[in-house]
Amino acid sequence: MDALLLLLRWMHILGVVVLVGGLCFSRFALLPALADTEEDSREKLQERIRRKWLPWVIIAITFLLVSGLTNFLLFNSTVKSQGWGDGEWMKQTSYHAIFGVKFLLALVVFYFASGLVGRGSGTAWIRSDRARWLGVTLGLAVAIIMLSGWLRNLHTGPNQSSGSELGVALSAESVPNDAAEPDRYQGPEAGSAFREQVTTDVPDESTEATGLNK
Ligand code: HEM
Repeated sequence: MDALLLLLRWMHILGVVVLVGGLCFSRFALLPALADTEEDSREKLQERIRRKWLPWVIIAITFLLVSGLTNFLLFNSTVKSQGWGDGEWMKQTSYHAIFGVKFLLALVVFYFASGLVGRGSGTAWIRSDRARWLGVTLGLAVAIIMLSGWLRNLHTGPNQSSGSELGVALSAESVPNDAAEPDRYQGPEAGSAFREQVTTDVPDESTEATGLNK
């Protein structure tokens, strides 16, 4: 299971890197550079780039959909089978609602990203103002990345290294981490409920300084 989760994570991150990296490069380097080119050679160049880039966009979207949906289904079944928050964890944390918004935004990003490298007359309006729609797509992608970080934080908690960055001495007994708590995700107290319970054991001084209890 661990190997599958790792594979899914690699797929998801690679998909994000290719798709969002390509959008970023197109908006801030390629488009301004092409603007200084003569119209005839610009159109030829754009057509060549379109043909070369299209397979990458298709692969990235496939990676994101396959890894994202599988990850979501696996996570749902873990939460249910382990009874996180007495079966109320998803509701307590609004995980499904945040995921729903992320998924809808991702579909919009996929539509624009495909339209920008497509040829169909239905998406010609996107290509007629590339700068604007590339900007909009990138903005949506940034929002998706923020929502994804939020989703992840709901069950992994704040970064464990933040205490030491603040100069607070955190011992293995006082802070939950994988080495100190190998069963972190195994029991009914996994997820946020588990975190709340463990952080109440952290000495007051460290807790206040790290904000782990907030
Ligand atoms: C433009 C599209 C997308 C972007 C930029 C994006 C970005 C991200 C990022 C940065 C993460 C965190 C990765 C990690 O820390 O391992 C993530 C996690 C995730 N993504 Fe996506 N994603 C996109 C599309 C999708 C789609 C289409 C789905 C589902 C169909 C999906 C489902 C998930 C799930 C379930 C997680 C794990 C969240 C958690 O830890 O609870 N993503 N995504």
